[in-house]
Amino acid sequence: MLVDTFQRHHDYLRISITDNCNLRCLYCMPDDHYNFTAPDKLMQVNEITEIAKIFVKNGVKKIRITGGEPLIRKDVDKILLNLADLPVKLTMTTNGIRLNDYIDLMKQTKLLSLNISLDTLCADKYKLIAKRDYFDRVMQNIKLFVDNNFHIKVNMVVMKNVNDDEILDFIELTKDRPIHVRFIEFMPFDRNDWQHDKVFTLDQILNVINESYEFTSLSREPHDTVKKFKIKDHFGTFAVISTMTSPFCSDCNRMRLTADGKMKNCLFSKTETDLLSAFRMGLDIESLIYKNVLSKEKELGGQFEVGNVDDSSIVNRSMISIGG
Ligand code: 5AD
Ligand code: SF4
Repeated sequence: MLVDTFQRHHDYLRISITDNCNLRCLYCMPDDHYNFTAPDKLMQVNEITEIAKIFVKNGVKKIRITGGEPLIRKDVDKILLNLADLPVKLTMTTNGIRLNDYIDLMKQTKLLSLNISLDTLCADKYKLIAKRDYFDRVMQNIKLFVDNNFHIKVNMVVMKNVNDDEILDFIELTKDRPIHVRFIEFMPFDRNDWQHDKVFTLDQILNVINESYEFTSLSREPHDTVKKFKIKDHFGTFAVISTMTSPFCSDCNRMRLTADGKMKNCLFSKTETDLLSAFRMGLDIESLIYKNVLSKEKELGGQFEVGNVDDSSIVNRSMISIGG
């Protein structure tokens, strides 16, 4: 079992399989020259499988596939089929553009719960935020997957004066269909133009919703990074991921593997462990994994505190190269 110095048990691994993406979301990808990882530096299918097996042997029960955009990787089918053989709950975070091509594979690999990133319900604004014109496809795919009984969470990063005026429109999405909307506080990453006053906080989000709806809190499950709520008579639910104003680090169970095979013990960790190079040299990576977990900071990678964020001093990758 991977336990850190704060007695947190780590049984959830998020694996990024590419840092490439078919969108250019402004909060995620630095808009100057981002160099995508060269193909030979990415973990190959067998490397992902073998490294994942070592994590599973040490107690991992859930694996989420992330990117960039995981569904643009050509061998994603092989990766999913291999991981589906492991005794884990398999999930994915995607921008939804290519989902329709993979519905049969998702059913076959029992990947029945998906997070889909969508930050606006206006086609024009989608082009501004994501810099590409795929809005209709994503909406069609959300409908397709909900109609096929997948558990669909829609992730919306709320940014002040960008899309905070759409919170109630997203709530409407939860009315007639079992769609689970998650409002995410805007977080600082390398060169993503984060500013304190662009964060729309948990309290502000709940205030907006409270003016039009009555809602109740749902109970928190262990390791949840969200606060969940339900509006009476809505088929779906909504939740807030309040990393900036009220994080849930105290029972965090997450570990991350970047597409180039570096292990991070926190979204905001300063350091990483190069598992892929060690694996390629035939070294024992189990001890490296333990060492990495033992170095996990108490909160927020030890880089900032709630209410006291100096983004200029934060050392990290950009979100596209960490992987959601
Ligand atoms: N702040 C908050 N959430 C972010 N995501 C990506 N970048 C940020 C950021 N700067 C979210 C995306 C996606 C998930 C992978 O991470 O919305 O749903
Ligand atoms: Fe876990 Fe780091 Fe996120 Fe806190 S900030 S919940 S420790 S990944």
